[in-house]
Amino acid sequence: MPRIADRVLQLGTETALDVLVKARALEQRGRRVIHLEVGEPDFPTPQHIVEAGVRALRDGHTRYGAPAGLPELREAIHPGAPDRVVVAPGAKPLIFFGILATLAPGDEALVPDPGFPIYASMVRFCGGVPVPLDLESPAITPRTRLVIVNSPCNPTGEVVSEEHLRGLAALAEKNDLWVISDEIYRRIIYGPEPRSIAALIPDRTIVVDGFSKCYAMTGWRLGYGVFPPALAPHAVRLVINSNTCTAAFVQRAGLAALRGPQDAVAAMVAEFRRRRDAIVSALERVEGVRCKSPDGAFYAFPDVRALPLPAGALADRLLEEEGVAVLDGAGFGPRGAGHLRFSFAASLEDLREAADRFARLVSRL
Ligand SMILES: Cc1ncc(COP(=O)(O)O)c(C=O)c1O
Repeated sequence: MPRIADRVLQLGTETALDVLVKARALEQRGRRVIHLEVGEPDFPTPQHIVEAGVRALRDGHTRYGAPAGLPELREAIHPGAPDRVVVAPGAKPLIFFGILATLAPGDEALVPDPGFPIYASMVRFCGGVPVPLDLESPAITPRTRLVIVNSPCNPTGEVVSEEHLRGLAALAEKNDLWVISDEIYRRIIYGPEPRSIAALIPDRTIVVDGFSKCYAMTGWRLGYGVFPPALAPHAVRLVINSNTCTAAFVQRAGLAALRGPQDAVAAMVAEFRRRRDAIVSALERVEGVRCKSPDGAFYAFPDVRALPLPAGALADRLLEEEGVAVLDGAGFGPRGAGHLRFSFAASLEDLREAADRFARLVSRL
């Protein structure tokens, strides 16, 4: 067999997708499984957005379009400076393009830990070295080139404080670093609206955002990056060399999402808040479990280190014995070890049932 290129051997994965496969196999054997593993809203895409997409298809928006995205959509995303905007099929490709455009082999990138596993995977793929980001004292070396911030964070739901953002911005200036600010959960927030580091250092920051989470559009595949002017043309080249453009009818649906009523977003966030309060208090009642209330996103990340079973084994037994699919925190980096991730993008009844089943398992340990 011909040799496989080393770079693909560097790629990691998302454990959510592996657990989903296991859970589906159990379901095929007739078990009912409560799915708290995958990070996607359980709400349907708001109707006016669906209608706009269908209308665009009927109107013939089915051809190649501008690689950087539909001009009206780019203007709606970043009024006054649409040239900075690059649209892509989801937020993920923009994380990839941002890393490809900024990191040379051997460069170090500070990545959130625990954090979205794709950051470290893509850094390694690009020949870089992921280094856990400690907001109190970031480990800057002469090889550091990039810092990745994710606020609110997957998996912890934490929002990076204004003070830490200022500290990171100053470090980036001093050490000549790029910043990728993944703000995909920006609008799913339970306190004051978080500030973006882009407001402090716009010419060093790539903002990654998209429609998947806040408009319940995961399957449409629509995201965008707001790039510093020096990087935007390179990101467009990456689009031209990979996906050519993003489906025009999908972008028209995105335009309707931004321009249309926002009450569906507000309703989803209000429902997420109810679910957050329910799951956090239910988990806190389980002996040996501590769970902070997340500031944003839709994940609870309880600390289970006081239980007599490691988190990975606990997640396995919770699925096998109680039919509840959650993730081992270790899949989000070394500092995620000893935690579980419960997505609360599920109904209140399912969340209550899942917490009861978890408590039942813990009582048997
Ligand atoms: C932090 C973070 N960034 C990006 C993404 C990917 O978003 P998209 O589905 O738009 O590619 C996710 C999805 O889980 C995420 O949690």
